[in-house]
Amino acid sequence: MHAAKETAVYTHGHHESVLRSHRWRTAENSAAYLIGELRPGMSVLDVGCGPGTITADLAELVAPGGRVTAVDAARDVVEQARAHAAERGVSGIEFGTADVHALDFPDDSFDVVHAHQVLQHVGDPVQALREMRRVCRPGGIVAARDADYAAMTWYPATPGLDEWLDLYRRVARANGGEPDAGRRLRAWARQAGFTDVTSSATAWCFATPEEAAWWSSLWADRTTASAYAARATGGGHAAASDLAAAAEAWRTWGADPDAWFSVLNGEILCRA
Ligand SMILES: C[S@@+](CC[C@H](N)C(=O)[O-])C[C@H]1O[C@@H](n2cnc3c(N)ncnc32)[C@H](O)[C@@H]1O
Repeated sequence: MHAAKETAVYTHGHHESVLRSHRWRTAENSAAYLIGELRPGMSVLDVGCGPGTITADLAELVAPGGRVTAVDAARDVVEQARAHAAERGVSGIEFGTADVHALDFPDDSFDVVHAHQVLQHVGDPVQALREMRRVCRPGGIVAARDADYAAMTWYPATPGLDEWLDLYRRVARANGGEPDAGRRLRAWARQAGFTDVTSSATAWCFATPEEAAWWSSLWADRTTASAYAARATGGGHAAASDLAAAAEAWRTWGADPDAWFSVLNGEILCRA
């Protein structure tokens, strides 16, 4: 039996500043590569659902007659996802807690198994993909999308953001994750035994003054107030003054009328 490698620590935690960015996500801006595969009546497992905004969209896309099961390792965020679905009046979603390395579902349970921005955080992404495949019916789809931190790019050049990125990548790896996951998804899928893998990439782009202000302020807050801050200082990767400097760099960048930021995301659609 597989011993789940649960050694990875979820780098961001679920501070308000983190959820501010997750709650902006929709199926359209974060799972467009999957939408064309969805049909009314399908069953979908959304692994690492977080606060559940994409989950609720997926439920609407497989209605009528579809069902979505949404799980996350963190119980508190699952409750938030449940509340979000209720607020939107979206039905047909079952919620629960689960570790993607060892899912508590029988083989062949779902038509589609989806994980957005999850595999970069887990201790063994190949095992995670094997589990996602096991619970997906033969011929179904396993879909994953992850950012690639080293491929993030922005303007104007800001040494403080270079330092932020370097520190983030070191902390994420020390926590057991792989921040440059986007480029590795295809390789991980092949290692997990998939032979039919369609790879793509899409970017988020934050370029209006409002988008730059939103993105910079949530990252400034994440850098000093989320679980990431505690892990960066507690792990000896940075002093509180380094985090304050990174937050200041974010705020300065975000106030620049020329500010432009892009997040490259790798995507895979794997036929089970
Ligand atoms: C970056 S968030 C993404 C949330 C959501 N999919 C979205 O895109 O808005 C990653 C989520 O994965 C969850 N997670 C981390 N490790 C996990 C694991 N081993 N099994 C299941 N969920 C996990 C975290 O608790 C967190 O809610």
